[in-house]
Amino acid sequence: MTKSPTSLLAGNKVIPVLVIEDPADALPLAQCLVDNGLPVLEITLRSDAALAAIETIASKVDGAIVGVGSILNGAQLQSAKDAGGQFGVSPGVSNALLDVLVDNDWPFLPGAGTLSEMLTLRDAGYFDQKLFPAAVLGGLSMLKAVAGPVADISFCPTGGIKPDNAAEFLAQPNVFAIGGTWIAPLDLVRARDWAEIGKRAAEAAKLA
Ligand code: 3PG
Repeated sequence: MTKSPTSLLAGNKVIPVLVIEDPADALPLAQCLVDNGLPVLEITLRSDAALAAIETIASKVDGAIVGVGSILNGAQLQSAKDAGGQFGVSPGVSNALLDVLVDNDWPFLPGAGTLSEMLTLRDAGYFDQKLFPAAVLGGLSMLKAVAGPVADISFCPTGGIKPDNAAEFLAQPNVFAIGGTWIAPLDLVRARDWAEIGKRAAEAAKLA
């Protein structure tokens, strides 16, 4: 049975996409984002420290809603669940991952980049999808173009969302949230610049 994560988002519309390389950064980074109004996090499985970071945040940061991103296969999905992730996100969906998803009721935001992928996911019961990489696919033009033919699909565009275009994306009727790395990019995380990340998070939280 497929399940959308949107009820978990509780109205939060901006999702920082995170790469955490040092497990010691997990707690201060997540706390900083939650404290500045962004409780929904997408921690990507793009680092060796990701699963440890997910476990730490899920067990120690009150109010954090822990999503796990960059899930490419069933094994990663299982590890993400086991680590305490509350929902999963993928950049796209292979046939093998789709088979795992339809047998799973873990909330999941699957990625799509074409009408055919959107329809495949829709047939599987996913009406909430990640549009990725949104800017490369045409950004607002793509969202407007698909709003007619697939009017019942709602998107979280990610990939190329920045402070100067975030509000426009959020204003699209077929957008329920946006995601991106601009709030806590890797260079600021490596520098442990929680002040700057907190400032960016507070600004992003105002968008919603
Ligand atoms: C993702 O995994 O969703 C993307 O890396 C986010 O893209 P961005 O770096 O352009 O925000």
